[in-house]
Amino acid sequence: MLRVIPRCVSARSPVLPFLVSAIGVSIYFNQSIRSFVFSRSARSMASSNVYADLPNGRKIPMLGLGTWNSKQGLLKTAVMSAIDVGYRHIDCAYDYQNYGEVGEGIRAKIAEGKVTREDIFYTDKLWCTFHHPDDVEPACRHTIEKTGLEYIDLWLMHWPMAFKRGDAQYPTDDKGNYFCEDIDYTETWKAMEKVYEKGLVRAIGVSNLPLEWLQRVLDVSKVPIANLQVELHPYLTQVELVEFCKSKGITVTAYSPLGSPNSPDLDTNRSVPIDDPVVIEMAKKKGKTPAQILIRFQMQRGINVVPKSTNATRIAENFESYNFELTEGEMAELLSLNKNMRFVKYHESFNSPLHPFSPENMKK
Ligand SMILES: NC(=O)c1ccc[n+]([C@@H]2O[C@H](COP(=O)([O-])OP(=O)(O)OC[C@H]3O[C@@H](n4cnc5c(N)ncnc54)[C@H](OP(=O)(O)O)[C@@H]3O)[C@@H](O)[C@H]2O)c1
Repeated sequence: MLRVIPRCVSARSPVLPFLVSAIGVSIYFNQSIRSFVFSRSARSMASSNVYADLPNGRKIPMLGLGTWNSKQGLLKTAVMSAIDVGYRHIDCAYDYQNYGEVGEGIRAKIAEGKVTREDIFYTDKLWCTFHHPDDVEPACRHTIEKTGLEYIDLWLMHWPMAFKRGDAQYPTDDKGNYFCEDIDYTETWKAMEKVYEKGLVRAIGVSNLPLEWLQRVLDVSKVPIANLQVELHPYLTQVELVEFCKSKGITVTAYSPLGSPNSPDLDTNRSVPIDDPVVIEMAKKKGKTPAQILIRFQMQRGINVVPKSTNATRIAENFESYNFELTEGEMAELLSLNKNMRFVKYHESFNSPLHPFSPENMKK
């Protein structure tokens, strides 16, 4: 069950259950439309964060700021303006090579007294060159040191495939394929559990795992899998995977919720959900923007969502997605746009048997 927690109330407070039910802010899951619907009172909590419960009792703000593919030099200010409008969740990764800037933005807001470290939920991801169990803890310590954030709130395994160990972020052969190593992601997971047990990270999870691969991690896990981050938008709804996670108490985060319109991976003539006529028409009818429709769509499915922007106006616009509702009919219409169309593929490492979306593995 997801709950809205007023910021002044500690999650461990004994008055919490009373307060929560008294202000009627619980969110309920409607099995028939497979979506979460916010109650009337939740709407009156406009412009403050709504949280999902992680299996270890911690809370993740449902809306976060994505940071991939940001122009160098823009992120510190973007993170600061996001915090100013109310974001408390920032999604980053070693792979993006911008965690220093993100850390700077967060630390600047802490120094101003706008937020404390505990108010912020910082997600980062273990890169594929650090999958060897001996490399996992040093990789985590590197990120903590470079961000200056003392700990990571949620640490995800970015992809299941491992790349050659070493300093090269994308080790390639002479054909341009990535050098992959034969390290099973369940071994990497076990090393991540040790890092969790040491208290360097407050929750651990995975990214880009299909259902059966996630089950393999579940089979060996001693620490609960807190989160699965995957590509989700109306062209890729992954209903079965989302339902599976819910049944196992794993929260889900949607990446590329707008369809990653400026992704370097994208075919230039391929249309993305933010330009879809149904989405545009729905936005017009509701007096909202297409981005807000797409972000709200995920939240109402009970899915966390991390739209990326470095533009202050769009950052604020996206945060407004907390403030309206889609009807059951609109949710169904958006779900019906599914085409199982994936935009983020990492085709350069299709040669790895552990690439989840390689043509070979997609055939199985
Ligand atoms: N786990 C993984 O493997 C993985 C993979 C991909 C992404 N991610 C995470 O998910 C985040 C989001 O995904 P994404 O970056 O691929 O794509 P996205 O959030 O779907 O789209 C981002 C693009 O949309 C533009 N945009 C943002 N808000 C807008 C608005 N209100 N109106 C119009 N355009 C808007 C942004 O441009 P401006 O910046 O100019 O506003 C940016 O070019 C990433 O940044 C990253 O944190 C994770």
